[in-house]
Formats: sequence, structure tokens, C-alpha cells
Amino acid sequence: MRKVRIAVLVSGGGTNLQTLIDAIEKGDINGRIEAVISDHEGAYALERAKKHNIKAVYINRNQLSENLLPELQKLNIELIVLAGFLSILDRELVKAYEGRIINIHPSLIPSFCGKGFYGEKVHKAALDYGVKVSGATVHFVDEGTDSGPIILQESVPVYIEDTIETLAARVLQVEHKLLPAAVGLFCEGRLCIVGRKVNILKKEV
Ligand code: GRF
Repeated sequence: MRKVRIAVLVSGGGTNLQTLIDAIEKGDINGRIEAVISDHEGAYALERAKKHNIKAVYINRNQLSENLLPELQKLNIELIVLAGFLSILDRELVKAYEGRIINIHPSLIPSFCGKGFYGEKVHKAALDYGVKVSGATVHFVDEGTDSGPIILQESVPVYIEDTIETLAARVLQVEHKLLPAAVGLFCEGRLCIVGRKVNILKKEV
């Protein structure tokens, strides 16, 4: 089966990116990361890409509108993965890649998501609310923020003694499991979007 051409968009340390790189190198994902694109010049995720001989591209946040879509089209990208990407994608780009943009969010959507909910803010909101479970969600990106059809979710317990750091670390472990799993399913053509729902098709034997 031909490998899916993937671009991973990042803004930070890139541990989610690293799990994708590792899974691809192990042969667990029928895809190839053609480029890692960051809106932060110093993002360590770009270093991770370079270490694995993956094209690493920095695009200034103020130039994303004019430069990101052409870069993706030039590389003939078939799947975009947002792995800790903090900029909002233009409506035109989301339309052009409808059903082909996957995001990872560190909560059980629809809790603690949407505008302003990213990174530690998500875990602080969960702890302040007093939830007993949190977790991670992998979903398709639509024109909203963290509002597209959900692909995979997994919960983690929240303990009374938890801090933002301890909860974030527990959720990150689940992220590192779910993101490669979801990308793998996409690259096998097993994700079927029906309205708001994502149907995971059985593996063809
Ligand atoms: C993760 O917590 C992810 O859920 C959120 O941003 C963080 C990215 O971490 N979107 P990393 O850069 O992949 O380590």
C-alpha cells in the first residue's frame, strides 16, 4: 500500500511528533513524514525532525496565511497532523484539507477545550473544576476549535494530590499512545466520518 504523505505541524518540544517518528520507523504506520512545520523558530520539535533527516520548516506566524497552504501543496501532503500546534489554521486551508487534519488535545473533549484551552491551561481547568477523570482526545479538525469529529479518546484518573505537572504527565502518556494509533488508522484508510461520528472500519484480512 502506498505510504501516505504526512506533514506534522508543531510549536513546542515535539514529544508527540517523536512518537509518530518512532512508530513510522518501526513500520507501525503506513505513512511518511514529508515535513515538520513550526510557527516557532526555536521549537525543539524542529531539532527532532532534523535528527531523523526530515525536512524541518519554520514559518513565521504572521506569514502562515500566505505560506502554509502553498508549502503543503508543493509537498503533495495528504494528511496534516497538529501535534501541539498553537496557531489557528485558516478556513481556506481547513476546507482544502477537510477530513485530512488530525489534532491531539489533552482533555476529554468537549470538556476543557476550545478557545484559550491549550497546554497547562487545560489541566489547570480540570483540576480547578475537580473532575475525577481527564484524558486525551484525537479528533479531525473542522472550522471550529477542538470541535471536529472524535477519532479516539482515553481517560486517566485525577487524584486529589495532583498538580498541573502530574496530571499533564499522565495525560501525555495517553497522548503518545492515541496519536500514532489514530494516524495509523487513517493511513490504513480505516477512518470513516459519518456526520459528527468517526467509524473505525475493521482491518481487512
Ligand atoms: C500536548 O500536551 C498536546 O496535547 C498539546 O500540546 C502538547 C504538545 O506537546 N496539543 P509536545 O510538543 O508534543 O511534547
